[in-house]
Amino acid sequence: MKEIELKHPLIEHKISILRDKKTGTKEFRELISEITLFLCYEAMKDAKLKKVKVKTPVADCDSYIIDENNYVFVPILRAGLGMVDGIFKMIPNAKIGHIGLYRNEETLEPVKYFYKVPKGLNKKQVILLDPMLATGGSASAAIKLLKDEGIKDIKFLSIIGVPEGIERVKKDHPDVQIYCAKIDERLNDIGYIVPGLGDAGDRIFGTK
Ligand code: PRP
Ligand code: URA
Repeated sequence: MKEIELKHPLIEHKISILRDKKTGTKEFRELISEITLFLCYEAMKDAKLKKVKVKTPVADCDSYIIDENNYVFVPILRAGLGMVDGIFKMIPNAKIGHIGLYRNEETLEPVKYFYKVPKGLNKKQVILLDPMLATGGSASAAIKLLKDEGIKDIKFLSIIGVPEGIERVKKDHPDVQIYCAKIDERLNDIGYIVPGLGDAGDRIFGTK
């Protein structure tokens, strides 16, 4: 499945401010939330609609709504939490699971420390959230945890990805559609995205 990159002047504009090391915590959080809203918009393009009757001030009509219960969003902690606010703006009733992973700074391998998702996900679409798709190790491990529960319909949303990470996830999980607001050039020798935006978790939570 080919990855989808949001190619749009508004995204370019917002990513430029996000990247800037002078951008402070408040604005950084707001931008993550806004860009996530656009990612969610793109990822829901194939959402199933159900018909409802609506009375407008002018006439009765058939209209269409999304069954919000069909979608569960799962941020990868910590940085994925920053994307939840943007999801709530679009899908206020969204159910949320949590997967806690951090990268071992030396091996870059993901380490799991938390896992809790709503029950009965097998028939739902699960949309993973993580702003950074770097080596792809965290994304791939999170997808595997969901698949081990029998979840089949999975999408992955990230703010910035790189070809190495995208290829890793596509190789491990060819059935998972990847969405990136922006695809950057490469990883550096310590596994950071270049040019990237630095450490997303630290910038969202102000921990450095
Ligand atoms: C960051 C990011 C991803 C991961 C991406 O998390 O939010 O989860 O790194 O890297 P990968 O594609 O090479 O696995 P980090 O481990 O820094 O944890 P944090 O979100 O708690 O800051
Ligand atoms: N995680 C981040 O937060 N930033 C990167 O550039 C790579 C992984």
